[in-house]
This record gives sequence, C-alpha cells and structure tokens, in this order.
Amino acid sequence: MTGGKGRLDRVRTARLRAVLGAVLLSLSPGSQALAAPAEGASAANGQAQFDSLWLGSAWYPEQWPEERWDEDLRLMRAHGANVVRIGEFAWARMEPSEGAYDMDWLVRAVRLAGKHGIRVVVGTPTDTPPAWMTQKYPEVLRVDGEGRRLGHGGRRQFSISDPHYRRLSRDVVTRMAQALGREPNVIGWQIGNEYTDESYDPAAKAAWVGWLKARYGTLDRLNDAWTTQYWSQTYSDWAQVPFNTEKGNPGLMLEQKRFITDQWVSFQKNQLDAIRSAALPSQFITTNLGGLGWANRFDRYAINRDLDFASWDNYVGTGHVLPYRNGASHDLVRGWKRRNFWVMEIQPGFVNWAPVSNMLHPGETRAMAWQAIGHGADGILYWQWRNALNGQETMHGSILGPDGAPLPIYAEVSRIGREMAKAAPVLAGTTPVSPVAILQDYPSRWSIDFQLHHKDYDQIAVLLDYYAPLKDALGSVNIVEAAGPLESYRLVVAPSLAVIDEATAARLTAFVQGGGHLILGPRSGQRDAFDRLQPRRQPGPLADLLGGQVEQFYALDEPVAVGAGKATIWAEDLTPKAPDAQVLLRYGKANGWLDGHAAAITRKVGKGRITYVGALIDKGLMKTLIDDALTGAGVARDFAVPEGVELMTREGDGRSVVVLVNHGQEPRTVTLPEPMTDVLEGGRRQAVTLGAEGVAVLQRSAKR
Ligand code: GLA
Repeated sequence: MTGGKGRLDRVRTARLRAVLGAVLLSLSPGSQALAAPAEGASAANGQAQFDSLWLGSAWYPEQWPEERWDEDLRLMRAHGANVVRIGEFAWARMEPSEGAYDMDWLVRAVRLAGKHGIRVVVGTPTDTPPAWMTQKYPEVLRVDGEGRRLGHGGRRQFSISDPHYRRLSRDVVTRMAQALGREPNVIGWQIGNEYTDESYDPAAKAAWVGWLKARYGTLDRLNDAWTTQYWSQTYSDWAQVPFNTEKGNPGLMLEQKRFITDQWVSFQKNQLDAIRSAALPSQFITTNLGGLGWANRFDRYAINRDLDFASWDNYVGTGHVLPYRNGASHDLVRGWKRRNFWVMEIQPGFVNWAPVSNMLHPGETRAMAWQAIGHGADGILYWQWRNALNGQETMHGSILGPDGAPLPIYAEVSRIGREMAKAAPVLAGTTPVSPVAILQDYPSRWSIDFQLHHKDYDQIAVLLDYYAPLKDALGSVNIVEAAGPLESYRLVVAPSLAVIDEATAARLTAFVQGGGHLILGPRSGQRDAFDRLQPRRQPGPLADLLGGQVEQFYALDEPVAVGAGKATIWAEDLTPKAPDAQVLLRYGKANGWLDGHAAAITRKVGKGRITYVGALIDKGLMKTLIDDALTGAGVARDFAVPEGVELMTREGDGRSVVVLVNHGQEPRTVTLPEPMTDVLEGGRRQAVTLGAEGVAVLQRSAKR
C-alpha cells in the first residue's frame, strides 16, 4: 500500500491438498467449493482452524421451523460455505426451564450441517440469560457503574461476577459439551459473545476486595502503591476501597481494569473448563471479541491466553473501509495470540446500528474479506445468514431476505466462496511475517486515557501515524504486547508506552543491546506498574540507555515548527546527556519554551539503536523518520504498489503468497518484481490490473 494514511483512507499443506481433493464437493459442473478437512486430518489440540480457509455465517436455527433448515444449509453450501456458527443466543431454547435441558435440536442441526459438508462452531449462550432465570435469580442481572440493576429484554444484562450466574452458565455449557463435544462435525467453540460490560453488584465488590487482599496482602502496601496520603484517600478497612466507574485515583483505576480483566478471564475459564472436560481435543475454543478491536475496557491479551486463537468482528458501520485503520485492527487481533485469527462476524454489505447504515460499494464486501485474509484471517463468517422476523436487528444486512431467498449480496459472497476454495491450498499453513513490530500496551492506554492532558490525544491515531508508513513499505507489520518476546524483530516501535515496569525495561534494553532498533514515542516511561510517576525523568528506566531525558512535556494549543515540518497536540523538550546521543529533530520557532530545543534524540548502542521522538509529528516528518529507521535497521522493503492498493504477504510451508487489494474506485496496474502465479485467475503474471475494489492473490517464489 502506498500513500499516507489520509490518501488511502480516502480510498495458511500437501496433506491438506490430498484431503481437499477427496472431499471437494461440486457446486455446479466445473466449480469448486471450500472443503472441510476430513475427520482426523487435524489431530492437534484445536488445530483444525489452520488447515483450511473457512467461510460461513451466523445461523440461528432456533428462530426457524426445522423443515426449513435443509434449504438454508443447501443455500449456504451453494455459495461455498464450509462452516456455520450456531447457538450463541439460544439459552431459552437449550434450557426452557431451570434444569430442563434440550440439546437434541442442536445435535440435529449439527448433523444436518454435516450432511451438507458444513462444519459447525458452537456458541455458548451466556450473553442472553433466559427470562425464567432473571425472574427467579434477579441477582444474576448486571449492576452498572452508577448502581442501577439492568432489566430483561436486551443482551449483556448479566453479571460476570455473580456466583449464581457462573453456576448456571457452567451447567448449561456442561450439558452442551456432553451433547456436542464428541460430535465429529463440531469444529470448535465460541464462549459467550462480545464480552463488554463488567458488573458492580455486591458479588463483584466482594470479589474486588478479595482480589485486592490477595494482591497487596496489607492495606499499608495498597496505600503506599496508590499514594493515598493524597486527598485523605488512606484506607483503614478493605471495604472502604471504592469500586465504581467514577473517575478516581489513577492507581486504583488501573488496578480496577486489571481486576475486571481477571473477572472476564475467570468467567471465560468457568466455561472453558466445562468444554475441555467433555470435548474432543481437536475442537478449538475461541471467543468473539467484538467489533471494537481497539476497545480497552479490559486486557485482550489476557483474555486470549487460555484460548486457541483470537476472533473478532470486522464492521465498517457508516462509510467505507479505512484501509490502514482496518488493516491495523486485523494486525492487532493477530497479535493477541501471535497467530492467525478468525473474523467471526463481518458485514454482508451493511449493518443496522451505525448513524448511517449505508451499503458498501459493489465489490467492497469481497475486498474486505481478502484484506482480512491478507492480514492473517483464516475464517470469514457473515453476520448474519437471515434476519429474524422480529427483534432488535431486523434491519441488518443479511445474505437471505425475509422470504428465505438470496439477496443481491449473495452473488458477491458466492464469488468469495469460489475464490477462497481456489486459494485455500495455497494459503494453508501461511501467516503474515514481519521484521517490524508496534507495541500496544493496555496499562499504558489506560494510564494515558485517565489523564489525557489534551482532549485530542488519541493513542490509536498516534499508533496509526507510525503504522501507515511502515505498512507502505512492508507486506506485513506486527502489533504485539509490550510484555512479549521481541527477539524476532529488527525494528520495534512503541508509540505511547507510558507504563514501563522493570521487566519491560529489561526486555527493551536487551533488545537494543542485542542489535535491535527501538523507537519510543511521546509520553514513554512516565509511569510505573501502579501508574505512579517514575521518580526520574522520561523515559524513566530507559533514560540511561537513551543517554537523554525529557525536561518537560507540553500540550500544544497550536502547531509548532519542528525540522522541516510541524508538531501538533503534543511536544516534549528533550536533552541529550550522553556525549554520543544525537539530536535527530529540533523545534524551530515554537512556544518559547521549546524554541531550538531537541524534539527527537537517538543513540547507537553497539549494533542496536534507541530513538526517542517527543512530539506528534506530521506525515512528511514521520515518513522520513520511518524510512531512515527501516534503512538503519536493515529492513528490506517489499515491492512498491500504486496509491490506493494494499500489499499483504503471508509466508509458510515453503510458500510465499501476496494478496493485493485495490481499496479505490479507479483501476490500478501493479507491476510485479518477478513473474508470479495468479491463484484466482490462473497463469503467470508480470503485472496485474485491479479494477475498483479489485483483488489478486499471487504466489511468488518463496526464496527471494
Ligand atoms: C455484533 C454481535 C451480533 C450482531 C452484530 C450486528 O457484533 O455479535 O450478534 O448483533 O453485532 O452488527
């Protein structure tokens, strides 16, 4: 992809191939369908998802007469589906009254799907407790941050902390796992749906106090970590510690985020253990973390640790695909587990919840699917197959209409199905590989958001400022947690790493001393793990390595001159301290305090380098900074593509695959650096022309 963020945003084995050959079903003479790997093709724990590409949708058989199911599944298979997701909201059907379970209909749906060559992901229904439950056990209902208990009729109205809800969830999931865990047509499980809201009910408060006691042991330690001498916040009884959504002591708020994360982890593990105890090891377990990939209500690395792979929902809402932001979202999700992921929901044209729920351009639904695959998605599931005749979402985009017949988008989804079937053997076993990582850190995000200091300081925008020129140069950029291994990278960028604890400082130092290049952005190293100000200037524990420090930070009310460009929103005044620390960028005439001072400094450390950029710089400066950093770190650029075209790469199993998507509405010709095999159209190409929303999948020589 070339062009700055602004420009474009205006525009997985041979084993499997044998299996595929054996089970390919014909749609019509001469056409291919995506194949589900044969039973036994994937022996390892939850590995089946990596053996193919998966296409399907969310289907709610409980909403329709059983006589209709066969026709639904026939139409799915006819557009190329090889997977379907069922069950995630059907608690009232699975357990119509307390302890009276009915899983037979689910088993019948799963087996019927199997007859059509469609594998099943089973969702646990814990997002929507049945009415008998909320009536009999009102304490299962969530209490919001203002202390109001929610009512029945929507979803997410349950408490993640309430022991009754945990018990009832465990019971229903145990019954599901007993009924379906050894069904050969079940490929995997999704726990709940779109974890979103924590609860502030009495059980949650008790868990909070227990969590604090276990973490701190004594109130003296807690008081010290949160500096509670400030404003008479000192606690002499655990029950005094606040638990709500009020803006409070940032130390407390950071810990509350960690507590909420742990509540979700244990809420999930309660169900995960029930599934694992009864399910075939080949069945994977994931959850669908929703459409807001960047959301930070809790730590998504922690949620994914117990799961086999990550899933999310890719929705555009109003408007059209913003290629960098959407691509970076996929990279973020891939980084949660550092492996390929699924898009558990994607929009079939339009949604129902956006300010303007417009239709995507013709071809854009296909372009979205291929962008996801280019960034490492192995599963693409549309939400939804067919809208319920009533309920909150009757206006959403779907694949079938209320008459049960295909809507216009069906043809585009069928094309995606034919193409995924062709590309699956080539992409199986491949994943995006990058020499460059951007660090994304939930404690830092929480810390900065708690005390923004400038209303326009948007950490995702800051990350994307770095991401765009990196993605322009490379087929793949990783976005990973600051707390993970970094050895495989040559260049690591930490755009907003405000919280640097000792372990992270040690890892970053070892990375630089080992020859890696590290770029720190503004606000880096200001805080410790408790959100306390570090007792030394930024970047705190990395100041010695940098050989320099931040003298002062400034929220900018107007742009300031820096180098040949400008900085907006944020500028820090830097001083080199070590003789070998060099000034990389200097402010020009600025706010008086910054005039002529250093805006960025850099220092060579052995074969490595550390650079601190204290300001939010414009696109031109950023491009120069990133181009120089790539050259300095010895990172080879991938081949150039025209403006509006995104280049994505996946490697593995001795194959190297290029996915090209033209996000624009004008045709673009891409000259290839070597002849490549055109996976979708056939033949060898030295150049490809992509129409509006055009896609190409190319196989190149693995050794370049
Ligand atoms: C979400 C949910 C689905 C559905 C879609 C609509 O992501 O997981 O159940 O509500 O949004 O876009």
